[in-house]
Amino acid sequence: MRSLHDSWELGGITIPNRVVLAPLAGIGNWFVRLQAKRYGAGLAVSEMVSSFAIHYGNQKTHDELLRIDPREREAGVGGPVSIQLFGHDPEIMRSAAAHVATLGADLIDINMGCPVPKVMKTGAGAAMIKDPDLAVAVARAAREGSGLPVTVKLRASVKAGGMEGLELARRLVDEAGVAGITFHPRSAAVRHKGVPDYDLAAELVRELPVPVIVSGGMAGADHIRWVFEHTGCAAVMLARGALGNPWLFAQVLGERTAEPTPEEILEEWLWVIDRAEEHLGPDRAARYLRKFHPWYVERLGAPKSLQDALQRAETISEQRAALLLSCAPFAPVQA
Ligand SMILES: Cc1cc2nc3c(=O)[nH]c(=O)nc-3n(C[C@H](O)[C@H](O)[C@H](O)COP(=O)(O)O)c2cc1C
Repeated sequence: MRSLHDSWELGGITIPNRVVLAPLAGIGNWFVRLQAKRYGAGLAVSEMVSSFAIHYGNQKTHDELLRIDPREREAGVGGPVSIQLFGHDPEIMRSAAAHVATLGADLIDINMGCPVPKVMKTGAGAAMIKDPDLAVAVARAAREGSGLPVTVKLRASVKAGGMEGLELARRLVDEAGVAGITFHPRSAAVRHKGVPDYDLAAELVRELPVPVIVSGGMAGADHIRWVFEHTGCAAVMLARGALGNPWLFAQVLGERTAEPTPEEILEEWLWVIDRAEEHLGPDRAARYLRKFHPWYVERLGAPKSLQDALQRAETISEQRAALLLSCAPFAPVQA
């Protein structure tokens, strides 16, 4: 009987289990990946990073988006770090991938699924599905440039009802030598709406000689385990279901069934605030965290007045104070 706890091989790298954190733009930095690992994720993928920004030496890209923290490999079950790149130019991709390899990434993932018009307009993301020759050249360049195993994350199609992503996946394996495919069985046209076509994912799993990770609709531990069984995939990838909800990793792995207590949620929230401060310094962290707060407010069932106070607060100390005031009954005892 297959288990989500089983280790597996991806391009010669051992992944300690079959539950993966998805790439999440503007979110999936080192501490979000570290958080997922603390709760059991076997592999965590970075947010998408522009191959052009890397090639042209953008400092912020280097210092923030490409930061890999040693704790990521020590937390939970350990496991590798994959950096996701996007871009439509094979030579730029070759150079960016080579640079990422020098920073200590274990794997490189290439984004061929992003449906955002700003990205597709440049020929990157899901637009690559329409240009399979270029897609193959980009993936091959990343592999040759980095010397690392390369995976590609792609969708079923560009327009609703299509399935040209399957043919591209086959070509990426045969002609570009990619080590694995992450398949999001929705079209780019529907973005993140609707039920993913898990039968199509099962078909791809059966056909490809490399591991397939399935992404899409991963909410609720029972459903996620069902997708693993139904598709026969190598691993499942958690995305929106895990936002502000790292407990989902432990639940999917069967290590806990209970929902987090208010005390646990508050402790985790404060951990995130501390890590954001460590990452960006107090001023920028306060702004950055505005995206994170709503997930924890909702999970805690805290009042809207707390949400408003957090979004208004200019500094991270004001945010901590608002939080501790509103959540006093659950707050850790101050030493
Ligand atoms: C806020 C957000 C950011 C995302 N950023 C990326 C990204 O950088 N790269 C990528 O390949 N997919 C990205 N995705 C897609 C997710 O990785 C995942 O495939 C998608 O959300 C479907 O999974 P779900 O239905 O379980 O959320 C993003 C999705 C969301 C909601």
